[in-house]
Amino acid sequence: MDMSITNKTALVTGSTRGIGKAIAIELAREGVHVYINGRNEEEVERTVQEIKSQFPATSPQNATADIADKKQREALLEKYPQVDIVVNNTGIYEIMSYEDINDEVWERTIQTNVLAANALCKFYLPKMLDNGYGRILFIASEEAIMPSGQMPQYAVTKSMLLSLSKSLSKLTAGKEVTVNSILPGPTLSENVHHIINHLYGDEDIPFAEKEKRFMTTNLPQSEIQRFIRPSEIGRLAAFVCSPDASAFKGSPIRMDGGMVPTIF
Ligand SMILES: NC(=O)c1ccc[n+]([C@@H]2O[C@H](COP(=O)([O-])OP(=O)(O)OC[C@H]3O[C@@H](n4cnc5c(N)ncnc54)[C@H](OP(=O)(O)O)[C@@H]3O)[C@@H](O)[C@H]2O)c1
Repeated sequence: MDMSITNKTALVTGSTRGIGKAIAIELAREGVHVYINGRNEEEVERTVQEIKSQFPATSPQNATADIADKKQREALLEKYPQVDIVVNNTGIYEIMSYEDINDEVWERTIQTNVLAANALCKFYLPKMLDNGYGRILFIASEEAIMPSGQMPQYAVTKSMLLSLSKSLSKLTAGKEVTVNSILPGPTLSENVHHIINHLYGDEDIPFAEKEKRFMTTNLPQSEIQRFIRPSEIGRLAAFVCSPDASAFKGSPIRMDGGMVPTIF
């Protein structure tokens, strides 16, 4: 399917691994010039080269920066003052009990997951409105609408993103600019892969078997009974960034494998 986004530019935060990288790959597959972001310059450059060799008609760029660091973020915005698409993917998460979440953890999580993303929106949204085209996408989580209680500091930030997405969408009335959120369910990023392997470390069984056992024991409410693959989220994200998805305005779009048991 041709998504008609060839030659658009996209900044995807946190795109050296996991869901962010998959989104960058799926956008590049559609001919988008992707700006690869992460804090580790070598990883960023490696990803840029990988995408360049896979999609030689595109010009992926190095957008190394800690987006939670104001100075580094501002330098990034100065380097890339115009983009057609912003995917706010970076999100830090950790299973923690409420008693152990101190002020520093609350502040770091809100800073990285919400305020950094908001700063990018504040910079790019007015330009998109002037240019007559733009897509802003937040990668939230099913935790936004169904907090598990296992990481309250994270769930709060994901709910905030849904609200921000709708507020910003109000500013786009009548324009070919959209602001939306995708809510992935449990997704097999490298990080999650590592956690599952670690969990069944002593057992000599194929990964598919570990995944099946994990699902049955820990996530029986998942209707797909497997982890979502990052490329599935990537493909959906590319579509939401396309002109065919103009009617999604401030929408929370669930791709949660059936984790959320309610209709809405
Ligand atoms: N995996 C899941 O099951 C799942 C489910 C629902 C929602 N999500 C959401 O999806 C998003 C991606 O998750 P993931 O599991 O794919 O993440 P991940 O594997 O942990 O990938 C994190 C990416 O973000 C970068 N990063 C981290 N902190 C950064 C910072 N301050 N500035 C710039 N880049 C930074 C990392 O590179 P460096 O470390 O080199 O900076 C890496 O490229 C997150 O928002 C997460 O909440 C994930």
